[in-house]
Parts: sequence; C-alpha cells; structure tokens
Amino acid sequence: MLTLDALTKQYHTGDRALKGVSLTVPQGQIMALIGPSGAGKSTLIRCVNRLVEPTSGKVALDGVEITRLSRRGLRQVRRKMGMIFQEFALVERLTVMENVLSGRLGYVGFWRSWFRRFPAGDVAAAFTLLDRVGLTGFEDKRADALSGGQRQRVGIARALLQDPTLLLVDEPTASLDPKTSRQIMRLLRELCRERGLAAIINIHDVALAQMFAERIVGLRAGEIVYDGVPDGLSADVLTRIYGEEDWSQTIRAAEAGEEAEADGEPEHPHGTASIDRERLAGLT
Ligand SMILES: Nc1ncnc2c1ncn2[C@@H]1O[C@H](COP(=O)(O)OP(=O)(O)O)[C@@H](O)[C@H]1O
Ligand SMILES: [Mg+2]
Repeated sequence: MLTLDALTKQYHTGDRALKGVSLTVPQGQIMALIGPSGAGKSTLIRCVNRLVEPTSGKVALDGVEITRLSRRGLRQVRRKMGMIFQEFALVERLTVMENVLSGRLGYVGFWRSWFRRFPAGDVAAAFTLLDRVGLTGFEDKRADALSGGQRQRVGIARALLQDPTLLLVDEPTASLDPKTSRQIMRLLRELCRERGLAAIINIHDVALAQMFAERIVGLRAGEIVYDGVPDGLSADVLTRIYGEEDWSQTIRAAEAGEEAEADGEPEHPHGTASIDRERLAGLT
C-alpha cells in the first residue's frame, strides 16, 4: 500500500507543483492520474520515488516511510517501484535483452554489470518476461531498431524484472498511435492483475484512463479535484479538472471504448517461454 500524506513540492523557481496531496493506493489498484499539462502529475510520481525531493509531507510504501530514508535505504526501496516512462528511456545501442537486464542493475554488483554479466536466473527471467510482453525473437535486436510500441514493451519488461510491488508510469502512450496505446494499456492492466501490482499511471488521454483504470484521480494546479470511479467523470467533473470545454466527444469516446474493451481479446496470451539455452549461456 502506498500512502501520500500532505505532500507538497515547491521548485526552486517558486512553482508550487503540489499543494498538500494526500491519497492512499491499496495493493493491486490501478489508478490513473489525469489533469492538464503542468498540473503536477509527473512531480507527484517522481516524489514517490524521490527522483524529485518533496518539500514537505510524507510518502510511505508498505509501512516504510520513503521520505525519511537515507540514500542507501532509498536504493533498496526503489527496487520495489518499477518506473515506466513516456520516452521509453532505453539505451539505443544496446540490445533488447541488455536493456531489460539493466532493470537488475540495482541488484547486480557494479563490476558484474559493467561487464554486462548477469546471473543465469536473471537472464532466464528476462526471457520469460520478454515472451510475456510479446517480444520473443527480439532479444538480440538493438533498441533503436524497434517501433514505439515495441520499445514501450521493453520498458515494461525492464520495470518488471526488478520484481516491483508498485508501478509508476508517466504518460506511457504519449508517443504512440491510438491502437498501440490501447494495446500497451491493456498489457499494463493484465500484468498488474497477474502480479497483484498497484500502479499510478499518469495519462492525459481521459478516454484511455477511463477504459483501463479502476480509479481516477484528477489533479489541477497541484491539488486533487476528483478522486473516484471512472464512471464518475461527468462533464462537470472534467470541467473542474481541465477547465471549460465541450466534453461530449470525450465522454462518447470513453463509452464506446469501454464497450469495445468489454468483449475484447486478451492483449497477449500467456506465453510459453521458449528459452534459448545457448544464448542464455552466452549472457551469464
Ligand atoms: N524541474 C522543475 N523546475 C521547476 N519547475 C518545475 C520543474 N518540473 C516541473 N515544474 C513545474 O511544476 C509544475 C508541475 O509540472 P509537472 O509535474 O511536470 O506537471 P504535469 O506532469 O502534470 O504536466 C509546472 O508548473 C511546472 O512548470
Ligand atoms: Mg508530466
């Protein structure tokens, strides 16, 4: 369970990005954080793992107060928080497998990771995860040879390899076309359900948020202005979050999407990992 208590962030520029945000995300819950550009969504998820240092307030994960941890304690608790970014943040000239294994760098010793030698168990787990996200056969491809959707799948596999309990996901679909966006959101939801993970997903696309999250938190100018079920996002609520606009199309899109999702196929059938023993040996 993740708890934020009166979290505030004031940047050195004077911008107050978070103005006392309190919320609890239970284990297993998929929460979408929506709001206009500049509302503080990225700041919020970065304060959770202290990539951004909060100005005041508390963050606790499973009873551990993250905001009080030393650097060393922070390194340990960060392993429980998988981060997935909009720009995928892959190392372009490394292979898919190497990018995924870099998710274990917090665990593997420095020299071992420097020489890119990883324990056999990690490599086997990475093959299994790549299979699960639909990238079997791509292990040796360079990251810069992949499509946007494939790159995001690598990002997801990398985040999962550290075996987190919480996913922090910042605009996962911002660089993707609508169909790929849905596939990625569906995959994220499936993985969270399979593994009982909680997730905070920052997403500016309201219809996507409604389709795939079980809870929506609306942020405006650093404050929570909505916290409830996806169906509660009426035109009034959307105006409270985003300001005056015609919401009829957004609401129709969300309704159509929910219906399509209800009878949709699973994103990716449970893979039977076909582990290439020879290549596995070469990596360990
Ligand atoms: N590194 C930073 N330095 C100064 N101000 C920042 C920084 N990052 C974000 N801000 C400001 O904080 C506010 C919230 O930004 P952000 O968290 O990126 O919002 P969102 O992700 O919802 O677009 C904005 O006013 C933004 O300009
Ligand atoms: Mg942002």
